[in-house]
Amino acid sequence: MRQTILVTGATGTVGHEIVKQLAMQDVTVRAGVHSVIKGENLKRLPGVEIVEIDFTDPASLHAAFTNADQLVLITPLSESQLEMVRNLVEEAKRRGVKYIVRLSALGAGAEPGIQLGRWHREMEKYVEESGIPYTILRPAGFMQNLVNYSAESIKREGKFYMPVGEGRVSYIDTRDIAAVAVEVLLSDEHHWKVYELTGPEALSHQEMAAHLGEVTGKKIDFVDVPEQAVRESMLAHHTPAPIADAILELYAAYRAGKSAMVTDTVQGLTGRAPHSFRQFANDYQECF
Ligand SMILES: NC(=O)c1ccc[n+]([C@@H]2O[C@H](COP(=O)([O-])OP(=O)(O)OC[C@H]3O[C@@H](n4cnc5c(N)ncnc54)[C@H](OP(=O)(O)O)[C@@H]3O)[C@@H](O)[C@H]2O)c1
Repeated sequence: MRQTILVTGATGTVGHEIVKQLAMQDVTVRAGVHSVIKGENLKRLPGVEIVEIDFTDPASLHAAFTNADQLVLITPLSESQLEMVRNLVEEAKRRGVKYIVRLSALGAGAEPGIQLGRWHREMEKYVEESGIPYTILRPAGFMQNLVNYSAESIKREGKFYMPVGEGRVSYIDTRDIAAVAVEVLLSDEHHWKVYELTGPEALSHQEMAAHLGEVTGKKIDFVDVPEQAVRESMLAHHTPAPIADAILELYAAYRAGKSAMVTDTVQGLTGRAPHSFRQFANDYQECF
């Protein structure tokens, strides 16, 4: 029987890519969106249904979970993220969901690790303790963060700013995270597994700027900036202080070269090498 797969966070950076790739398979994809207007693009994909949900409102989850066989559990980085995951896992238990793929983060298994990892580990535990078969995906930082957070300054002034010095990071292309998610959803060989996903190499941000410059033909520079300036900017943009501090802790790990680990998991699971940063820069050059 055709499976129905509910994808939460379906308009997000990873979620929309999973919906796109699942739409090419013989499954019904139910895209859980926070607002129907943002989900308009997903509606045009074959086999995709749109359903509006608010993770913080358990009553809103009912329709989304009706006849859902599998759940791709994606939540935003938010002060309410633990409550959101708890609500979604409780509903999955009540409604007989048979498999959960959880989007976590690299570092969730580290002890003591950093705050972002500890939050993710806590959320992983809700999934593990649900009794429902699961697969946990722990990706590195996303290459697409550059599109979401730095494309504007790159377009405007040919610069992007982060407090990370010369630290190398094994960023991953979200298209590869989605490819892994599709692979595990369509097989039952990945139950109870945890996969750590990275790109094929760890680059410094200076090297990333050089690749961006070469593919766009523009002069693009990376600028190392003090943590305090970044903190002030995040607070000015209404990022809650605990989230801003957790992000700065991640940047400090980048600076210290602690996020340079490379795994071969994407290749092993999909049979294809993950996108290099150069390939990403080429494919997204119009954004910059
Ligand atoms: N960014 C990275 O480099 C990175 C690396 C590793 C792991 N992660 C983890 O990956 C996860 C997803 O990150 P992402 O960057 O893909 O997130 P994202 O793009 O911000 O997507 C989050 C999604 O959740 C939706 N959403 C937010 N609040 C909601 C609510 N109350 N009810 C229903 N939907 C809601 C958003 O919809 P609206 O926009 O309409 O609100 C959006 O579709 C996070 O747990 C993050 O920690 C991120």
